[in-house]
Amino acid sequence: MKIVMIGAGYVGLVSAVCFSDFGHQVTCVEKDRTRLDKLRAGKVPIFEPGLDRLMTHNIAEGRLTFSDDLGTAMEGADAVFIAVGTPARRGDGFADLTYVYDTAREIGEKLKTPTVVVTKSTVPIGTNREVQRIIDSCNPPVKAEVASNPEFLREGSAIEDFMRPNRIIVGVQSPSAEEVMRHIYRPLNLRETPIMFTDLETAETIKYAANAFLATKITFINEIADLCEKTGGDVQQVAKGIGLDARIGGKFLHAGPGYGGSCFPKDTLALVQTGQQHGVPQRIVETVVAVNDARKSAMTEKIIAACGGSVEGKRIAVLGVTFKPNTDDMRDAPSLVILPELMTAGAAITVCDPEGGAEARRLLPGVDWVEDAYSAADGADALVIITEWNAFRGMDLRRIADLLSAPVFVDLRNIYPPEEVEEAGLAHTGVGKGSVN
Ligand code: UDX
Repeated sequence: MKIVMIGAGYVGLVSAVCFSDFGHQVTCVEKDRTRLDKLRAGKVPIFEPGLDRLMTHNIAEGRLTFSDDLGTAMEGADAVFIAVGTPARRGDGFADLTYVYDTAREIGEKLKTPTVVVTKSTVPIGTNREVQRIIDSCNPPVKAEVASNPEFLREGSAIEDFMRPNRIIVGVQSPSAEEVMRHIYRPLNLRETPIMFTDLETAETIKYAANAFLATKITFINEIADLCEKTGGDVQQVAKGIGLDARIGGKFLHAGPGYGGSCFPKDTLALVQTGQQHGVPQRIVETVVAVNDARKSAMTEKIIAACGGSVEGKRIAVLGVTFKPNTDDMRDAPSLVILPELMTAGAAITVCDPEGGAEARRLLPGVDWVEDAYSAADGADALVIITEWNAFRGMDLRRIADLLSAPVFVDLRNIYPPEEVEEAGLAHTGVGKGSVN
């Protein structure tokens, strides 16, 4: 199949690379000149494990090319994917659809051969109809039928998620578009991946409902964690105990400092807005958003309490600032709330993060950066784990205890058993560990 991917951002690039690896002929269209030059030179502009190897391989095989010429790329294409950004609009939280609609117009103006236009960007319910209307209003000489194909990729395991998805969701308007989409995903047949065809609005809703449900699951266990801290339970065991019920399932029940990232915060907010717009408030999701927002500051309080009620004049070693491990993404990371609040309370901060590069340094001014956990702990009055990178999972806790000026160990991801921490001579604070605190 001949595929065009518009937008070489996170979703677009991963999808383009994986489709080319399926054996399709893929042209990835990118307008940003600097990004395009990088891609053409075979450089991956984002951090995603395995992506560079797969991209280099498919460029070499001649299946993946990069271009800024949409008109030429679309000639003879079976499908044109829209994978441009939909950031949350400043002020009201609505998804900003400028890029999606501009792209639809450009497709309408430049289209010469019939194709299926597939929206991969996460777009509010009703957007795909509007994309169809915009393309039609340009009166292209041939038909472009809009389909919706939401993605469920997790940063850090996007390649695996693309190659071995739980399911493929496609909203279509006709059997012929369904046929094209079946063909594109045929390589996954061997793995018996369920592919579900729906109408456009249902596909759009599935994406928001999936992310809102997962965000709700996390927020639910986070509140149970708060309860455990007061009543004496252990939230990890509670999560295991309820997760063994197949109706609940054990995944996404890790209590922590609150969800962040590029999807959950944006998509929960967009669903709340859509509900309000249609007079059907999504009250559960509204509460999830509010509880998750408040949680980040509650973590600051927890750290201050662990430090004896004040961090004034103290140095705190922070391990991990990205919103989760295996990504350099800082979007809505809990660290962006916790660290400035600690500094306002008078603390000095030393940070270690395996990938928190330029973006983290820009977003967290005034903190000191070191290369490893032991350097961070050296002379600090407390050590706080915010992101559960592998590099922080097997630390020599006795060495950490020797390096710290005070034995304060705050594990916001519950990666260390409290007993092990206490045995090393450190005072342990976790999340939802009422029995030890
Ligand atoms: C998510 C969805 O999983 C994916 O399907 C969708 O396409 C995009 O959004 P991602 O944001 O990459 O993916 O990361 P994910 O692993 O889902 O984690 C999201 C946030 O929830 C992170 O901040 C993570 O730390 C937090 N989380 C996750 C928890 O706090 N507890 C959990 O049990 C799981």
